[in-house]
Amino acid sequence: LRISIVGAGYVGLTSAVCYADRGFNVYLLESDRAKAQQIKVEEPPFYEAGLREMLHEALASGKLEVSSDVKKAVLGSEITFIAVGTPSLSDGSIDLTHVGSAAKDIGKTLKIKGDYHLVVVRSTVTPGTTLNFVKPSLESSSGKRVGVEVGLAMQPEFLKEGSAIQDTFNPSRVVIGEYDSKSGDTLESFCRKLHGENVPPILRMNPTSAEVVKYASNAFLATKVSFINQIANICEKVEGVDVVKVADAMGLDDRIGRKFLNAGPGFGGSCFPKDLKALVAFSRELGYEPKLLEATLRINEEQANHVAELVREELGSVKEKKIAVLGLAFKPDTDDMRESQSIRIINRLMEEGAEVQAYDPAAMKNARELFGEKILYADSATNCLSGADCAVIVTEWDEFKKLNVEDFKRKMRTPIVVDTRRIYNPQEFRSLRYRAVGLKESAYTDEDERKVKERLRSLGYLG
Ligand code: UDX
Repeated sequence: LRISIVGAGYVGLTSAVCYADRGFNVYLLESDRAKAQQIKVEEPPFYEAGLREMLHEALASGKLEVSSDVKKAVLGSEITFIAVGTPSLSDGSIDLTHVGSAAKDIGKTLKIKGDYHLVVVRSTVTPGTTLNFVKPSLESSSGKRVGVEVGLAMQPEFLKEGSAIQDTFNPSRVVIGEYDSKSGDTLESFCRKLHGENVPPILRMNPTSAEVVKYASNAFLATKVSFINQIANICEKVEGVDVVKVADAMGLDDRIGRKFLNAGPGFGGSCFPKDLKALVAFSRELGYEPKLLEATLRINEEQANHVAELVREELGSVKEKKIAVLGLAFKPDTDDMRESQSIRIINRLMEEGAEVQAYDPAAMKNARELFGEKILYADSATNCLSGADCAVIVTEWDEFKKLNVEDFKRKMRTPIVVDTRRIYNPQEFRSLRYRAVGLKESAYTDEDERKVKERLRSLGYLG
């Protein structure tokens, strides 16, 4: 079985190297020539654990071919996955330009192809897009009928940055939104070959339901994060209450679960904010006001201001104060700063006259492109603390977890730590000024903490 993939973004490139690893011949199509060239010389355009090595293997084995020749790729494969970007428009809805041109280009080649070919939409698209937009584009450019000579399906992607390869090989479920049963059978057969012994649950439904599954999943997870952030803000007002303790206890109820109950500076990344906005815009267009989703977004925006507020409360005013920001990526193990709350927090602090000095183990290049000369850049976590009046932990990198009380005391002008990710033990940090999201004062004894963590680990909630 030969596969072609349109778009070498997160989903496209990761899928391509994983499929090649499992022995499929893969054509990866990328219209941005510079990006395609970069991939050809084994240079992934973004950081993802294990990706560079897998890209090297895939190219060396000859299983992966990177090109911009749609005709060759479609004629030389049986299934084409569309994995192009669907960026946000100013009203929150998504831009389907790339999906449209991919469908048109594929269709033009299908016109001259004799054999059956399956097209699978993997880009995140709002409900109805596959049936009302991709299908007519394919039919008009190919002159063929979907459901007869051409197959069509929508398979949402649930991979997380930082564990993209693992998620591709071991997804929690595969959702197949099929136009007709032949399309669904063809895609299911590919998925079974890909996963071998380890087939995840495969759920088949119509394409529009599959599109809803993707948005509903991300909206739910993002709402869980905003929910716990709201609880955290309440906890901060009550003496002796700690949101971590609350979340641990809530999470042991398996109807709730501990995952995505980590209070923090709010969610970022390329998916949650964009997908929520798109779902809100889609819902409004249908005449329904999605109040819970709107609140999820609003709470998230306010959470960044809340972090700046914690710094202000500690310092009185941040004007002309030097703030060390540890962590810029929207989460650890990625260099991605798209919609990262670090951006909002830094902008807020700078608006109020602070001088920001930042460090991130992976995102420095992206930060420089974004902030230019407006902030100072450190070359290590400890150097970032140098001379600072306050340190704010924004991303929970392992490297920051290793810093101890003495590191802060030795390096900073005034050792004040605002821990938005709850990476430090409040009891250990008592000897300096320690503020944390969701904590008025530490409510844990060490023995309590040990027991709860042990139980959570045995349930697989902690690493
Ligand atoms: C997410 C979905 O998890 C994935 O299934 C989908 O395909 C794409 O969007 P990703 O954007 O890679 O993946 O990041 P994720 O790990 O979900 O985290 C999103 C944001 O939520 C991060 O900023 C993270 O820090 C934040 N978060 C997550 C919290 O603040 N608390 C939590 O408990 C969990």
